[in-house]
Amino acid sequence: MIRIKPYNDASIAEAVDLWRAGHLVAFGTETVYGLGADARNGQAVAAIFKTKNRPQFNPLICHVADSGAAFALGVETPLARVLAEAFWAGAMTLILARRADADIADLTTAGLDSIALRVPSHEGARGLLTATSMPIAAPSANPSGGVSPTTAEHVAAGFAGGDEPRLIVDMGACQGGLESTIIDARGATPIILRPGAITAEMIADATNLTPHSITDQTDIIAPGQLARHYAPRAKLRLNATAPRADEAWLGFGTAPDSEHNLSPQGDLLEAASNLFAMLRALDASGAEAIAVAPIPFEGVGVAINDRLTRAAYEDDADAT
Ligand code: TXA
Ligand code: MG
Repeated sequence: MIRIKPYNDASIAEAVDLWRAGHLVAFGTETVYGLGADARNGQAVAAIFKTKNRPQFNPLICHVADSGAAFALGVETPLARVLAEAFWAGAMTLILARRADADIADLTTAGLDSIALRVPSHEGARGLLTATSMPIAAPSANPSGGVSPTTAEHVAAGFAGGDEPRLIVDMGACQGGLESTIIDARGATPIILRPGAITAEMIADATNLTPHSITDQTDIIAPGQLARHYAPRAKLRLNATAPRADEAWLGFGTAPDSEHNLSPQGDLLEAASNLFAMLRALDASGAEAIAVAPIPFEGVGVAINDRLTRAAYEDDADAT
């Protein structure tokens, strides 16, 4: 039985003990729920891959309480400093060169000489990370290939019947709803490896640089950026103007009217925070196919379209 406990002093203490003992604890962040383990402990990190049923050892994001802890693990560059000041704590992950003295299991970084680092802003996540001095490796807390969880109940449903995670710390529904923006900040120019709520425009404003984006290229820098990901069971048809007879409808903005609308007001941030929960709800309703309204390709809409395109991708051989 997976236990869900509300976020409070007792669950913080229990989470820290479980992490220290090499177990997994799921917790909320401002993006999605993470499946966390001590990033220094290779066996604990191996349990993440086993629990998620991840076919490959993709590198994981290390979550820490503040920028100082992040730059103790990854080599600080002038670009990383500017980005950290602008967007940490928050929904941004930086790829940096892994410091030679970083106490991190090789499995966490999949043997790479780089490391992914994030300082979440969510009060609960910060509470946990401050209470433990460990870096916490945490992918999204869903079985591999599935939709990322934005509530504690989603997490529990994904791992029902297993013995990990030992605890889910319930922090309510995630506000952001999309995974963090991943930026390679090792060089002079920011390279967006995964779009998210921190948009290319925001990065350009903060750095006075035009970020590059690799998301349209086949050259995979982030090994986890496989085509099919974040997938519901039902088939998706994107940029639809109306549902066909056999399709459920996921709307955006006005008309056609429906039960599931990412944002009736056409607010992209609201749509981002609803996306995964609504895909789950439509899956649970038994729909075989889901038609999705067009989402404007601007701001966080870039990230929403990225996730939808991956979710709609048909080649199962690439599922992660
Ligand atoms: O919002 C988020 O980022 C959530 C929460 C829990 O923090 N986490 C998350 O983790 O989405 P995950 O494992 O689902 O995605 C991490 C991505 C993967 O695509 C992985 O390949 C990439 O980060 N990544 C990790 N380390 C990397 C590295 N050294 N170089 C390039 N990409 C890396
Ligand atoms: Mg994931």
